Amino acid sequence: MDNYFENKVVWITGASSGIGEALAYAFSFRGAKLILSSRNYDELDRVRQTCRTPENVKILTLDLSDIPSLEGKTSEAIACYGHIDIMMHNGGISQRSLVIETDLEVHRRVMELDYFSYVAITKTLLPHFTGRRSGHFVVTSSIMGKIGTPMRSAYAAAKHALHGFFDCLRAEISSDNIKVTILTPGYIRTNISLHALTKDGAKLGARSKNIDNGLTPGKAAVQILNVIKRGSFESYIGKFSGEKIVLWLNRIAPNMVIRKAVKLTPK
Ligand SMILES: NC(=O)c1ccc[n+]([C@@H]2O[C@H](COP(=O)([O-])OP(=O)(O)OC[C@H]3O[C@@H](n4cnc5c(N)ncnc54)[C@H](OP(=O)(O)O)[C@@H]3O)[C@@H](O)[C@H]2O)c1
Repeated sequence: MDNYFENKVVWITGASSGIGEALAYAFSFRGAKLILSSRNYDELDRVRQTCRTPENVKILTLDLSDIPSLEGKTSEAIACYGHIDIMMHNGGISQRSLVIETDLEVHRRVMELDYFSYVAITKTLLPHFTGRRSGHFVVTSSIMGKIGTPMRSAYAAAKHALHGFFDCLRAEISSDNIKVTILTPGYIRTNISLHALTKDGAKLGARSKNIDNGLTPGKAAVQILNVIKRGSFESYIGKFSGEKIVLWLNRIAPNMVIRKAVKLTPK
């Protein structure tokens, strides 16, 4: 095991479950110092206790939907250890509903949480990174950040927006020695579908067969740490499957992918 992450300060949002939780264990195992964020203190504390070195883990509760609070939360995160090396933007929700039936408010909620919260934190953290001429933004997008399928309009729009924002940011700051890595995971076995918003904002409350057959969060975390270490611009995370082929095809023959998407049954 190399020491790339040893003593690096990593702030992870969405650290109370799923991919964020698995990332906490993987970073902690490799000697990183962590700041764990989500809304649920008790769950974050459970994750902290399970980390390899709980004494090197701090908890910062926040609500990513509360955009005005995020400037102060980012300052608190920097104050935890005096600096941050890696910003792991990961917290989020999904959505399951047809465009024709979805309240505008649901589109706004998903956009606020999955897109604007990332922008707000990034804008506050950026002067800290540029001042130190060092830092790495890692962004959990999704395969839905590259393509569009039925029932995911709000989610896919927010994830596509992340690519636009962070690709531009990368182009602006790479000469300042600041890195941007965008992850486009396929199906990862988490609770994400349980919390997905439906047409009126109610939670779906159901598991998804595809997600339950996906890669385990632990294996996803190992892939993610390798991608971060390489400093990749963008990377698929998941099983070697049809999803990876779709992403590859989308680059060279996008019309072929769109033709396939319009034949999918909404679910
Ligand atoms: N699982 C997949 O198949 C998959 C595929 C592609 C991309 N992703 C992305 O991976 C990321 C993590 O999702 P996951 O699959 O690990 O799902 P998850 O297990 O449901 O985790 C979601 C995390 O986001 C946090 N969160 C939700 N709403 C929040 C809010 N308002 N304020 C602060 N934190 C909030 C949750 O914490 P609290 O509830 O404690 O606040 C939780 O820690 C998301 O960005 C998701 O879009 C997942």
